[in-house]
Amino acid sequence: MNFFETISKILFFLLFLQFGVFSFLSPDNEKKPKEKDQDLITLASINSNNKGMQLDPIIILPGLGGSRIEAKLENFDSNHWFCKENKDWFSTWLNIEVLVPEIIECFNEYFSFEYDPETRYSYDKKGASTRPITGSKGLENLDPTLSFIEAIAYFAKMLEKLRTFGYQEGKTLFPITYDWRLSPRNLTELFELVKYTIEYASEINSGSKVHLISHSMGCFISTLFFAQQTQEWKDRYIATWIPLSPPMGGVMDSLIGLFYGINFGIPIVTGSEVLSMERTFPSLYFFVPHSPYWTKPVVTTPTKEYYPTLQDIHQLLSDLDFPQSSHDMLDDNWDDGSVLTAPGVPTFFQIGSGLNTPIQIQYSDHLGGDYNIIQADGDGCTPSEVMTIACEEWPKQQTQTVECFIWGGAGHGDTVSDDVIIEEVIRILATHS
Ligand SMILES: *[C@@H]1O[C@H](CO)[C@@H](O)[C@H](O)[C@H]1NC(C)=O
Repeated sequence: MNFFETISKILFFLLFLQFGVFSFLSPDNEKKPKEKDQDLITLASINSNNKGMQLDPIIILPGLGGSRIEAKLENFDSNHWFCKENKDWFSTWLNIEVLVPEIIECFNEYFSFEYDPETRYSYDKKGASTRPITGSKGLENLDPTLSFIEAIAYFAKMLEKLRTFGYQEGKTLFPITYDWRLSPRNLTELFELVKYTIEYASEINSGSKVHLISHSMGCFISTLFFAQQTQEWKDRYIATWIPLSPPMGGVMDSLIGLFYGINFGIPIVTGSEVLSMERTFPSLYFFVPHSPYWTKPVVTTPTKEYYPTLQDIHQLLSDLDFPQSSHDMLDDNWDDGSVLTAPGVPTFFQIGSGLNTPIQIQYSDHLGGDYNIIQADGDGCTPSEVMTIACEEWPKQQTQTVECFIWGGAGHGDTVSDDVIIEEVIRILATHS
């Protein structure tokens, strides 16, 4: 890529900002959530009426791509002469500086994993180390130089609002970041950390119950987490769970990511530039659409239909010549049913709808050739039909409240940053303890 191409890409990027079309994982999102007609009750008024100024602690679990990650290189063996071999800890996700032409090829190398079929775990490559940035710094303003972009500011607006009500990090506010490239099934330490943090937060707040707010992939981690706890523990510690944009049952962006690469909504990046690294992320295999939540074929050619079953997806990977490690990661991550087990805690879904959302890759001639993406209603990432299954099923499985708030025109990322939805979240926090 030459200088002029670089400049034109940057100009293109600035143009995107100008028109505000930028959106996390959902490029079509232009509409805004509907106003709720009811008056919004503020946390402050409820607190002064009901229980003085005591705030119940909040734990926050972000989604795929929603934790900042830093890297360190020590004698890293690159295929490109222009890539650095040594570099002390630096922020690499999200960092616009590593996404520019050429440098992105270095990023693509050191941010990839190596799969070990023995331990069925994915490791950093030799010479590269990575770790999530902890605390609120790790999930607000993913690239601090670009925090004026809503999707990159990510949790910044919600945290800012919570802080104005007196929530304090380490006292009543506990954001927990993690390496979202890994499968939730291999985040054992994260599960221990979540449990420890909930108990600690309760203890230092005179035994009060704790709220859990999760976005996207964080919702999966939460369901798996709740499935591991006893009902007694959940009754003792959990006030509410507020899942924002739960991608239950998987999303087509996983297959699109594995086939073509997804750019996470960052306009200067093309999917193909990050494809080889994304194929090594176990989390993308975890998000492959699953039966029984998905029922229609996810990929079609004029002569063949691939259904969202383990067998068909293996066939699909074979037909596209994916390596054995991809098959292994698919097996490791196939849902055993625990993902959609009712959590046994009061649950308040915030779900976007009304946007075009991929549900099928349709090849016009042969697999891997020209294709169309078939769309249906959803939040731009997860189809409504799939996302609302839990709203219908869980009330049958548990006695605790299950409420679903559907926000017309809200995209996958809007449930974190939209003012009206944030107000709703705060109302839930204030009215349940
Ligand atoms: C990673 O997850 C897979 C699939 O659940 C499991 O078989 C394997 O033991 C895990 N490995 C580690 C090291 O956690």
